[in-house]
Amino acid sequence: MKLEIKGLSKKYGDFQALKALNVEFTEGIYGILGPNGAGKSTFMNLLTDNLKRTAGEICLDGKEILSLGKEYRAKLGYMPQQQGFYEQFSAMEFLRYIGKLKGLKGRKLNGQIEELLTKVNLYEIRHSPMSSLSGGMRQRVLLAQALLGKPEIVIMDEPTAGLDPKERINIRNIVAEISKDKIVFIATHVVSDIECIASKVLLLKKGELIRMESPAGLIASVRGKAGEIPCTKEELQKLQEKYVTGNTIQRQEGLFFRIVGDDLPPEANVIWNNLTLEDVYMYYLEQS
Ligand SMILES: Nc1ncnc2c1ncn2[C@@H]1O[C@H](COP(=O)(O)OP(=O)(O)OP(=O)(O)O)[C@@H](O)[C@H]1O
Ligand SMILES: [Mg+2]
Repeated sequence: MKLEIKGLSKKYGDFQALKALNVEFTEGIYGILGPNGAGKSTFMNLLTDNLKRTAGEICLDGKEILSLGKEYRAKLGYMPQQQGFYEQFSAMEFLRYIGKLKGLKGRKLNGQIEELLTKVNLYEIRHSPMSSLSGGMRQRVLLAQALLGKPEIVIMDEPTAGLDPKERINIRNIVAEISKDKIVFIATHVVSDIECIASKVLLLKKGELIRMESPAGLIASVRGKAGEIPCTKEELQKLQEKYVTGNTIQRQEGLFFRIVGDDLPPEANVIWNNLTLEDVYMYYLEQS
């Protein structure tokens, strides 16, 4: 499977939300990382053809998705960012409803629903109304709905938004498990959602694709560009004012202010090992 994006652009009025994106995807998990407003949802909505593009092409195995139409949509699973929910439905009813919209029915539909509810660990509560489910459970129902119909391309827009760390890990594990032989996209501004599972990470900033690389490759690219300043709580505020972007890290040894840049100030100790995707995020996406 090959999904090719050529010169893909989106303008809302005069505002360019996505700038001539050129990129190719084969099977794998792709983390789309970018701050608020970077264009992640715009890109996903163009991929699902929920949004009309301004220019460019999206081809699946050489064929434009607009001409593939239904055939393309049948291969898609989409987990939207905003939750439009049917509160009175149970998880099972909700999945049945979505499954029918996708053209599934009978035993095939019931079989898939059962399998997916088990996979997302909700089989026990399948008859509870959606209104009674926790945020994490709801996200897992949404994930299950995206997987109905065994899609080959799965598109998830901030699947872990608002979840606690345990539920984040839960979702991440399920995504890793279902991703075999699929093209999976995960948009997020939370590094930990994708750092252990993404084959490649796309860094998106102000509608531009800055880089697409493996997590390890990205981390290697910021070697020598991160530094730490040991500090007290009192000094921290001054550092935050002085350096616009920085992470505060609390370790057993004390408090550190972590900064990134091409020219680190002498007060910072350059970090050569244990660089993380957080440093990558800060270096490429948070510096102005
Ligand atoms: N319908 C619209 N009309 C006008 N501008 C829009 C519209 N939708 C999005 N935008 C703008 O386009 C830019 C990209 O928005 P988009 O929703 O794609 O970002 P995002 O990366 O998904 O952000 P978030 O992390 O907040 O979800 C933003 O500046 C946003 O304000
Ligand atoms: Mg978004």
